[in-house]
Amino acid sequence: MNRREFNWGLTRLVAAGLVLAPCGALLSACGTESSDGTNATAADPASYSVNGSGQLVINLSVETGLSSIGSFIRKSYTGFNSGRGVIIVRTGASDYRAMSIVCPHAGALIDAPSGGKAICPRHQAEFSISQANFGANIGGQSSGAATSFTATESSGLLTLS
Ligand code: FES
Repeated sequence: MNRREFNWGLTRLVAAGLVLAPCGALLSACGTESSDGTNATAADPASYSVNGSGQLVINLSVETGLSSIGSFIRKSYTGFNSGRGVIIVRTGASDYRAMSIVCPHAGALIDAPSGGKAICPRHQAEFSISQANFGANIGGQSSGAATSFTATESSGLLTLS
C-alpha cells in the first residue's frame, strides 16, 4: 500500500467514525477533558516551588511563558491546587491574575484562554481573563466565578496564594 492508498483508506475510516471512536472511550487521553488536571501542561519543576504556607512560588526568570503583557500559561503544579491546573495571565508590567482551571459549574477543566476569555468545554461557561473582572462568569453556562488566587510579583518571583 502506498501513501496515497493509505491516506484514502484513513479518510474513509474517519468518515465512518471508526478512527475517532477511541477518543470517545478514552476522553482524557485525547486531551479534551480529564478529572485530575493532567490535561494542563505540567510545569517545569525547576520553575517553581511550594512553600511551607502552601503558596506557589514561580521563578519568572525560568518560566518564560509570562514574559510579555497579555501572555498566559495553563499549567499544573505538584502540591498546589490539589495538583490541578491554573491559568495565569500577565495583565500588566507587574500585574498577574490567576484562577483554577476547575470549572465551578460541574468540575470540568477550563480550556486555555482565547479571544479574551477562557471557556469550559463541557457546557461552555465563559470566564473573563481581563484585569477588571478576572475569573468572572461572563457568558455561556451560568456557573459563578472561577476560583481565583491572589498573585503577587516581587523580585522576579510570582507568588500565588
Ligand atoms: S462543567 Fe464547566 S460549564 Fe459545566
